[in-house]
Amino acid sequence: KEKRDLEGKKVLITAGPTMEAIDPVRFITNHSSGKMGYALAEAASKRGADVTLISGPTKLSPPSNVEFVPIKSTLDMYDAVMKHFPHQEVIIKSAAVADYRPQYSAEKKIKKQEGDLTLTLVRNPDILFELGQIKKEKILVGFAAETDHVIEYAKGKILKKNLDFIVANDVTQEGAGFGTDTNIVYLIDKNDNITKIDRSSKLEIAHHILDKVKQLF
Ligand code: PMT
Repeated sequence: KEKRDLEGKKVLITAGPTMEAIDPVRFITNHSSGKMGYALAEAASKRGADVTLISGPTKLSPPSNVEFVPIKSTLDMYDAVMKHFPHQEVIIKSAAVADYRPQYSAEKKIKKQEGDLTLTLVRNPDILFELGQIKKEKILVGFAAETDHVIEYAKGKILKKNLDFIVANDVTQEGAGFGTDTNIVYLIDKNDNITKIDRSSKLEIAHHILDKVKQLF
């Protein structure tokens, strides 16, 4: 698809995992490779959009022609998203954001000690939820990574986070979710229309997501 049907549209995409430091050498993260979000950035950019890609640490190179904002932690992502949000027309949050972070990040490497070590985790802000509160006429698209009750849980997130639609993936399915080159998703909108996209490359899925965004303009 080489159509430039998103010419000049301002699209913000988040991708990859967030990384929460325990100390200078240890961290908590998840299995997101960034492939889904980078595919969205590439597809939107090819279709003429003005893309900002805010990404946690990945092994991928960002597509050319996008404004690339690398971040590490959820709080970094929060700051970057809030800074760029006002200028955007579409926000797509494919990043796998850590819901918790260690209460303290030690300045020096934590030494081994007698007995067990208890780590206290505190809640991170829910970036997408906060965007839902201030979105006004912007188009807000979330993702839902689920292991069960995929459609039911994803629908709950549409309402709670005030989204236009959500991209739900069952991350336990072969060829879907974290790290793979393909995905299997449901696009579910706030009017309960559900479209299943069978196993396809993340780039093809990205184009389907953007087709649905386009319908909302
Ligand atoms: O990167 P890949 O390896 O290609 O894998 C793709 C993917 C599995 C990461 C992707 O398809 C996906 O499902 N991304 C969303 C992962 C996730 O965090 O889902 P969630 O159901 O926990 O969160 C729901 C939504 O809220 C997401 O849009 C998330 O970005 C957002 N969120 C969650 C928590 C938080 N504190 N702030 C948020 O903004």
